[in-house]
Amino acid sequence: MVFGGTLFIGTVALWASKAVAVDNGLAVTPQMGWDNWNAFGCDVSETLLTQTAQLIVDYGLKDLGYHYVILDDCWSTGRNASNNNSLIADSTKFPRGMAAVADDIHALGLGFGMYSDAGKYTCGGYAGSLGYETVDANTFASWGVDYLKYDNCYNMGQAGNQMISSGRYEVMGNALNATGRPILYSLCNWGEDYPWNWGSTIANSWRISGDIFDSWDMADARCPCDGDDAWNCGLPGFHCSVTNIMNKASFIVSKAQPGAWNDLDMLEVGNGAMTDAEYVAHFSMWAAVKSPLIMGNDIRTIPPADLAILSNPAVIAVSQDPSGSSAARRWIYATNDTDINGRATIQMWSGNLKSTTGGDQSDMVVLLINGNKNTIVLNATLADIFVDNGPLGTAPQVKLSWEVRDLWANRMSDDEAKAIIDASSAVGNATTGYNATTIGAGRYNATKTSYADGLAANSSLLLGKVSTTVQPSGTITATVDPHGAAMFRLRAMPTGSLKRDEL
Ligand code: GLA
Repeated sequence: MVFGGTLFIGTVALWASKAVAVDNGLAVTPQMGWDNWNAFGCDVSETLLTQTAQLIVDYGLKDLGYHYVILDDCWSTGRNASNNNSLIADSTKFPRGMAAVADDIHALGLGFGMYSDAGKYTCGGYAGSLGYETVDANTFASWGVDYLKYDNCYNMGQAGNQMISSGRYEVMGNALNATGRPILYSLCNWGEDYPWNWGSTIANSWRISGDIFDSWDMADARCPCDGDDAWNCGLPGFHCSVTNIMNKASFIVSKAQPGAWNDLDMLEVGNGAMTDAEYVAHFSMWAAVKSPLIMGNDIRTIPPADLAILSNPAVIAVSQDPSGSSAARRWIYATNDTDINGRATIQMWSGNLKSTTGGDQSDMVVLLINGNKNTIVLNATLADIFVDNGPLGTAPQVKLSWEVRDLWANRMSDDEAKAIIDASSAVGNATTGYNATTIGAGRYNATKTSYADGLAANSSLLLGKVSTTVQPSGTITATVDPHGAAMFRLRAMPTGSLKRDEL
């Protein structure tokens, strides 16, 4: 069976000769990890990375699939003219050198990511890689780097159309491939020159917007392009709200595919400026549209509630679904229930997931988003959820009954999250030590059982909690918090009528 360029033989998936994504074998599901930028900016150090890596293990985040520990900008002091012009790691911030940091991260079973820029300088003003792609790729490989985030500042005007931008980014892609080391390639050109059109052939993901800001919907002139032409943004900017980026993603969801993803930017969960409901909606959206899930908070001071959000295996299972298909926005309506600087909408998104019922019928993820500043009851009809299969209620799926599973109902309690935090000794917490068989008992471990296998085995941790059943031509209803989301997995129920037809 050939499905979206992938050839399935039994349970083994082989990339068919018509594979359309970069064939480095990485990011077959959206990459997961942590990057220091959102919480720390240029304040980077060896200690920050190694402590964070230890906590990713201790808090069970590694087990949930968070794999890459990514060092962002501001790590170098320039080039070494007497050593092939290779980049020099800042010896104050990284006294043991970068290879030692990589070794420590690898020893924990995690991957090490680094940052550079397809320009003369990085965005922070450090040495960029333009013109030095081969020497820098070789340096990264020699240090044991597993992931490169590649930025777009100071690009010397080498942008303005897709051919120029893609060519500039392809040079580094080729240099990384030539090292022979598998290095996940994450483009960061903020959606300039439509990277969703050319990114998949040279990279594993591409940013689609200016930098995210820890805000649900605050309008900011420095992040323009908030309307129907948001896909055509000549000025990506920065201080982009979650809803601004969601809107940009809505136009290009079809570009996401295994090995090549729309990157909605790093998560803000845990950085403190959004409400719990907003962080739930943010995390839910990023999972449903298959953005990389790169945590962007200070893990050393994570509040229990935020650890609980980032640790929801039923939502992560949507992100890591083997079908690799993004949810799409089915409707959006503007409302007036907003603060003066916000833009309120209500929205419904849905998308195919691999079947967990054993039949041909895909599961479905459904998101109801309440952008109002007050709680509201929202409805999603089967006709709208399945509109891709036939307009105006003509989709065959509308005639079926569906089990509705709430993907947030089994969220870890704050008490349990606090117990996990307290058990780690890595940053001066209690010294009982994390013990995955006691404190972690019952949690999902994707390093032992992949999400694909867990879903195939109907792991209850991944499927959410049955909340109701929706009948043919029916409607799902949810009471949704202000700036919050309800997120469901729909599973087809067996049909009596089908059996009668078979007789
Ligand atoms: C750009 C990127 C950010 C971050 C900074 C570092 O703004 O988009 O994600 O990497 O540069 O300077």
